[in-house]
Amino acid sequence: MSRIRWPLSVCFILLLVYAALHLTLPEEAGIRLQLKYLLAAAFVAASIALARGINYLLLDVGFPKRKGREAPALLRFLLSIIIYSFLFVIIFHFVLRMELSGVLATSAVVSVILGLALQDTLQNLFAGVSFHIEQPFHIGDAIKVDNLVGRVESVTWRTTAIRTNDNSIIIFPNSHVARAHVEIFPYGNLNRRVLRFPAPYSAPPEKIIPLIRDAVQAVPNVSPERTPVVRMHEFADSSITYEILYWVKDYMWVPDMDARIRERIWYVYRRNNVEIPFPHRQLLYRPQHQGVEQQVRDYEAVIRRVELFELLTDEETEMMASGVGLHLYAPGEMIIRTGEAGDSMFVIYRGKAEVRLPSANGDLQPVAVLGAGDFFGEMALFTGAPRTADVAAIEEVELLEIRKGCIENLLARNEKLAEAFSNRIAERQARLAEHAARTPEMEEQMQPRTILRRIRQFFRMR
Ligand code: CMP
Repeated sequence: MSRIRWPLSVCFILLLVYAALHLTLPEEAGIRLQLKYLLAAAFVAASIALARGINYLLLDVGFPKRKGREAPALLRFLLSIIIYSFLFVIIFHFVLRMELSGVLATSAVVSVILGLALQDTLQNLFAGVSFHIEQPFHIGDAIKVDNLVGRVESVTWRTTAIRTNDNSIIIFPNSHVARAHVEIFPYGNLNRRVLRFPAPYSAPPEKIIPLIRDAVQAVPNVSPERTPVVRMHEFADSSITYEILYWVKDYMWVPDMDARIRERIWYVYRRNNVEIPFPHRQLLYRPQHQGVEQQVRDYEAVIRRVELFELLTDEETEMMASGVGLHLYAPGEMIIRTGEAGDSMFVIYRGKAEVRLPSANGDLQPVAVLGAGDFFGEMALFTGAPRTADVAAIEEVELLEIRKGCIENLLARNEKLAEAFSNRIAERQARLAEHAARTPEMEEQMQPRTILRRIRQFFRMR
């Protein structure tokens, strides 16, 4: 009401003055003709009151009721322009009795000049209108324009304003936003953030990944709707770079959350004795001999516990231990596959692996879980047959690989070992196939003498 009070009062006063003058001035006086300007002024004041009234009813009452939010500033501006233009055309035509078409035609040059001068303004206006129609972003969303990130504060007929995390306001002309590459992080959307961090080469991914994933999950504002992902990014000069993918509903929190996560990483590293990597150059002096000897002793101890090799002398065990290779597999990695050729067997040094056999319908079914000291792959190694099962790591697993060359050397020194190996392999085969249905052909294949014959063939023994 207060917004239309003064234009109505002005209108009323002007109409009173007009009526008084109209009645008092003599009819033939030329001054009476000029009274139409007074009347026009009264109508202008009435138009202002009318435009404000319509604006109020449509945008302050009707719009929020229908849409549940405040009417945008740009809509107010456009509605006012339309109402005022309409009312002023009426005043010009009916009160001042001026022909607008003539005025417009004669002002063509002025229009061109005005058009050129208003080019930027019009571009901004049209871009602003298109934002309101398309609604690519809303008030409260975070957007990134020209590498500047901020929360959208307003979109007017000329500008888009964002508030940055420094609490400053950046104003972009709408035409610039329309042309620029704009990244939008809608408020309430699951916005993904990628944060990189280093870990030392000495710490296995199996250790780093779950530790950091749990730490990130517990950081406030990390969305519980998606479990953070931690994955390896690259092998850098002094460290392995990992990346964390986490999801956040309000993107403006990201710098704060990144800082929190780095903080947590520091504490997690500290508690778990993981060194925070920094660029460094190490001069390593390794007393090679001593280290290797110790390793061979370790391997010897593992090999001695393998039933297949119990019969080896100390010297033969040492020979074998100095020829093995040590391999590390990640959880889920396949070590050997059914049907592949293979000429080595494996002893589990640390961790667990699963043996999977093809079932009647062709699917692979787990049949055994092997742990430290267990072995597999002996069939292919000793007889040259294709692998009879899949074996996969089910946790991080370290394996000693015994290659064909190693067995060849042992057999070359002591031919009798072939018979001993065949007996042990036959016993193990019988044990493994204890509950399986066996054809006469399979029975024959499992006989010690058949296995011995195949060993002799495979190792080209006389
Ligand atoms: P190989 O055939 O060379 O490769 C697959 C290995 O899986 C096989 O040798 C055995 O060492 C092992 N293997 C096969 N069947 C079983 C089973 N039922 N239980 C445990 N290990 C097995």
